[in-house]
Amino acid sequence: MRVVVLISGRGSNLEALLKDQQNYSISHVISNNFDAPGIKLAKQFGVTNTCIDWSDNSSAEDYLIDVINTSQTDLIVLAGFMRILSKRIVTIFHNKIINIHPSLLPKYRGLNTHQKVIDSGDELHGASVHLVDNQLDHGRILAQTQIAVNNEKNAQTLAEKLISKEHKLLTSVMGLISAKELVWDDQHLKAFGKKITKPLMIK
Ligand code: GRF
Repeated sequence: MRVVVLISGRGSNLEALLKDQQNYSISHVISNNFDAPGIKLAKQFGVTNTCIDWSDNSSAEDYLIDVINTSQTDLIVLAGFMRILSKRIVTIFHNKIINIHPSLLPKYRGLNTHQKVIDSGDELHGASVHLVDNQLDHGRILAQTQIAVNNEKNAQTLAEKLISKEHKLLTSVMGLISAKELVWDDQHLKAFGKKITKPLMIK
């Protein structure tokens, strides 16, 4: 399975994927940020990359479509990619784009999820991998992971506690997708050959 990863920054989820690549390979990395540390990581792992100037959304997406098609991509993974893809892109790559988001969706779409968890006094926090549609952090949730919120009063501490679980979640989901143990169409989500109605929980 050939995978293109889209990033905007640090790239720790990308790094987890680059180190994993069990039944799948990262064929290309795309960034809207020319200075993204994740681009350096791609180079270190010998993976080709493209940085796209996103000042004009429409021409950026034209280029994105070309790059993805040239890479003969089976799956597109958004890993810290800070742009909302248009309806055109999600239609062209229908059911082929997944995103990792640091919250237990449908709670806390958008930014500052860790602070929102603290402000709400939640006892649980987590991350979700979901299919991408043209709304922010929206689309069928495939899998989630949870952590307990103990005495973390600081969003950064909570983010640091969650990030290793995010990496585990994303690599586990990629393993399941590449082994065809996690499959979906417009109507159904199936895990291990059975329809499921709730996201898979990854420990
Ligand atoms: C992660 O928390 C991811 O869930 C969110 O953005 C962050 C990206 O971190 N979408 P990194 O660039 O993978 O380190």
